[in-house]
Amino acid sequence: MARITASVYTSHVPAIGVALDQGKTQEPYWQPLFAGYEYSKQWMKDNTPDVVFLVYNDHATNFSLELIPTFALGCAAEFPIADEGWGPRPLPTVQGHPELAAHIAQSVIQQDFDLTLCNAMKVDHGLTVPLSLMCDNPPMPGGAWPFKVIPFHVNVVQYPVPSGARCFALGQAIRRAVESFDQDLNVQIWGTGGMSHQLQGARAGLINKAWDNAFLDRLIADPAGLAQVPHIEYVREAGSEGIELVMWLIARGAMADVAGGPAPTLKHRFFHVPASNTAVGHLILENN
Ligand code: DHB
Ligand code: FE
Repeated sequence: MARITASVYTSHVPAIGVALDQGKTQEPYWQPLFAGYEYSKQWMKDNTPDVVFLVYNDHATNFSLELIPTFALGCAAEFPIADEGWGPRPLPTVQGHPELAAHIAQSVIQQDFDLTLCNAMKVDHGLTVPLSLMCDNPPMPGGAWPFKVIPFHVNVVQYPVPSGARCFALGQAIRRAVESFDQDLNVQIWGTGGMSHQLQGARAGLINKAWDNAFLDRLIADPAGLAQVPHIEYVREAGSEGIELVMWLIARGAMADVAGGPAPTLKHRFFHVPASNTAVGHLILENN
């Protein structure tokens, strides 16, 4: 049986990928941010999964305003690194897990979530920056990521976006799907994006540390309550792009305690302002 062993939550600020690729991680601006992920990189080496189910949003890179799936499951054998305007980042192609993805599609769609299935998809900073933060970038050419990845895109770019409650329920369906797969696989689920940030309009640059930290507290201890927060509160308190945080509720909904199991162990918590225009939050929760 496949099992979800842990969940990881992290922001996915594109400038973090640029800082890594240009060797700027020890510059005074970036050093405190990367220091917050040192524990995480070691934890990943000690707890390398077979597969990461990686919840993220595409930023009008693979999809466009011509076609906007609310929830899109990556079913392909591999996912190329997208060119976001400056050429693709020098990273290995992401290897998928088509068998597990097909099983999740069958199970989750039969649990009444209407997923879009993607048999070809390029992945942008929403997915690659979390990989870079959690793993040392593999040497190029020739390197490979240490696990397979099932990309799962959520529309948080074009309104209307899914509610926190729907995302939380979807996470529970994903857990049931993974646990009914008949191969022994160690699966992690990651939720990415956030924390508070607004890239546009009169409030561009908005950061709300108090709200972000209360979100982290509740994500750990009261996820079902947090899932009831309406999207207007995210937009008002965390900025127009702060709505990315609903994706963290998919990962949290897949944890064992939500289905009556034991509470997870908090292995790591980190919060830092600023990185680019964004508050960076990060958690690692292990199932018991
Ligand atoms: C920024 C943050 C994001 O999450 C994103 O997708 C794009 C830009 C930023 O801080 O600039
Ligand atoms: Fe983003």
